[in-house]
Amino acid sequence: MKIVKGINELKGYLVDSKRNGKRIGLVPTMGALHKGHLSLVERCVRENDICVVSVFVNPTQFNDKHDLETYPRTLEADCALLESAGCDFVFAPSVEEMYPEPDTRTFDFGTVMQVMEGAKRPGHFNGVAQVVSKLFYIVEPDNAYFGEKDFQQIAVIRAMVKQLQIPVQINACPIVREADGLALSSRNTRLTPALRQKAPLIARTLQESKALAATKSVREVIDYVVNTLNADPDLEVEYYEIVDGDSLVSIQDWKDTSYAVGCVTVYCGEVRLIDNIKY
Ligand code: PAF
Repeated sequence: MKIVKGINELKGYLVDSKRNGKRIGLVPTMGALHKGHLSLVERCVRENDICVVSVFVNPTQFNDKHDLETYPRTLEADCALLESAGCDFVFAPSVEEMYPEPDTRTFDFGTVMQVMEGAKRPGHFNGVAQVVSKLFYIVEPDNAYFGEKDFQQIAVIRAMVKQLQIPVQINACPIVREADGLALSSRNTRLTPALRQKAPLIARTLQESKALAATKSVREVIDYVVNTLNADPDLEVEYYEIVDGDSLVSIQDWKDTSYAVGCVTVYCGEVRLIDNIKY
């Protein structure tokens, strides 16, 4: 496995592989890797000849300076995990390498970018689109892999490749969970032991709401999730929306879509956690 910091160096390694018709897979990450990321990397290794994993904490997608500064940076440990998962290239550029000058591009992908996380974290998805489009231009992957925990991010990236006509297959990979149901996230390490005990209530409540969906209205299911989670003094729901899984438009009635997805953001103490469920 090679650890590469420079764009031209990486392109130099990949050019022959491309010429020889090798399939290239990319897993974009911000590091602090866990089993969720590794499931993407393992799939990327299985389905491609060359697996590239980018590790880059992208400043343009953080709308909170403190969050950017405290984001865990663990490149050495990440590389050890990636090597054992069969990754071929770790692309770990500096901020200057990725942004030699400010990225002034502003994207508009419509609803998928405006609702939920888009509304709560202004500029976040624009930053994601900036960095992921750059990564796609640099690596030119056949396949790219993203985790479904960030359900909305996948919709934004699909809209981006369509609008920018980037020829890459976007592969969505299922959420990996702890034994108690908590969705794996780099942010989980910020939970105190007491809050770590509380956090699985999020996944448990979503599962319970799935059973209710057979007999209750969309409104009743939303109220159930919000009220159950807010009843715990350590949890505070920022939003819970049930949307069409493709357009991300909120549904009012189960009949509005055959692909309903519930997306939740919950503060667990100070830690902002997201999760989702398919109904
Ligand atoms: O999901 C993430 O970790 C990031 O948003 C991504 C896709 C690596 C872009 O920085």
